[in-house]
Amino acid sequence: MILAGQLLLNDDPCAARIAPGYVRVEGDTIAEVVVGEVPASADAGGPHALVSPGLVDAHLHLPQFDTMGAHGLPLLEWLEGATFPAERRWEDPDFARSMTQRVVDQLFAHGTTAVCAYATVHHEGALAALETAAERGLRGVIGQVLMDREAPGFLCRDAEESIAGTARLLDLFPPGGRLAAAVTPRFAITCTPELLAQAGGLAAERNATVQTHLAETVAECQFVERLFGEASYTQVYDQAGLLTPRSVMGHGIHLSDEDRRLLKDRGSIIAHCPTANSFLRSGAMDRRALLGAECPMVLGSDIGAGYERSMVRVARAMVETASALGEGYPSAAEAWRQITAGTSETLGWSDAGFLKPGAPADLLLVEPDIDWLGGRVDPLAMLLFAWDDRWLRRTYARGELVYGSDAS
Ligand code: GUN
Ligand code: ZN
Repeated sequence: MILAGQLLLNDDPCAARIAPGYVRVEGDTIAEVVVGEVPASADAGGPHALVSPGLVDAHLHLPQFDTMGAHGLPLLEWLEGATFPAERRWEDPDFARSMTQRVVDQLFAHGTTAVCAYATVHHEGALAALETAAERGLRGVIGQVLMDREAPGFLCRDAEESIAGTARLLDLFPPGGRLAAAVTPRFAITCTPELLAQAGGLAAERNATVQTHLAETVAECQFVERLFGEASYTQVYDQAGLLTPRSVMGHGIHLSDEDRRLLKDRGSIIAHCPTANSFLRSGAMDRRALLGAECPMVLGSDIGAGYERSMVRVARAMVETASALGEGYPSAAEAWRQITAGTSETLGWSDAGFLKPGAPADLLLVEPDIDWLGGRVDPLAMLLFAWDDRWLRRTYARGELVYGSDAS
């Protein structure tokens, strides 16, 4: 199969660029990437199409797709009022399975082919999510959420039991696979120090991805201070062995310079979630301060606190949030790189985010209905700011058409 058009290339470590050419796919793999002319005869695409790697969403909650839009509550009240009751529905693994089907459909329909996702505390539900997402060809990690306090009884689990559950998921979906389990303590408030330490131990033993939340709101940070005393929120995770180069910490808004230095020293990653931060009015993440401290950063939708499924629009919100904070906002070319190779490289996923031979064929075909190549505006800026979901015509995961139709 040949997809032709403007290829979104990520050979520059900071910014994406476009160049005409084609991608040839054999089975589930990219066989060839040729820059030059856009061929007249291709299976799909043409001179005005964009061929992009699939997009990466580094922080989202699968069970929260049915509660997006619960507006007006700050984080802790939002969790109590909107989120925890919704997550209870995953007690039923059949519900978890069918909901994951719906969610994966929505991800593919918005061009997302790789994720770092949270399931719930329910072991069978998390297993159903992993099985379902793996069958559909999603790339990334999904974790069973760990909580043993400060949440409703129906969502608290014994520490040993939930660590054993995560260990079993790691046996079935080991790190390094296309879809792997992740160690997922929800956040310090809902985890005892013992549970955090066991989670850190398991992650080290298995070389697993860690997902959690860090310093999203001031009230949350104050609660952590009450629970843990002296140590800063970031140090609490460090003491539990949870700050690793494979740790993806959601938000990281209310951090000190010292916290950022610690994150940098450990190589831990902040998942910036700009749409969720504005929706819950949690604060504005200072991207410049984070990158200035050389902390690795990825980008996430954080659905359901975030209300945007499209990582293109999340990237646009990243640019707008940075612009509102002053100088030094990212260019559209940087934003496009962030949601493709930028995030995958930072996560250590060498096979995702690039158009390169040998990589799995996770690809998007985009056909804008505006003259984006007319030369009056930077084409990547036009695609970012004027983005219209209807332009996404096809999504491929592992070479398989998972969204859109074969008819060109
Ligand atoms: N902090 C702890 N849990 C959550 C969650 O589900 N969403 C967000 N945005 N923050 C959290
Ligand atoms: Zn989150």
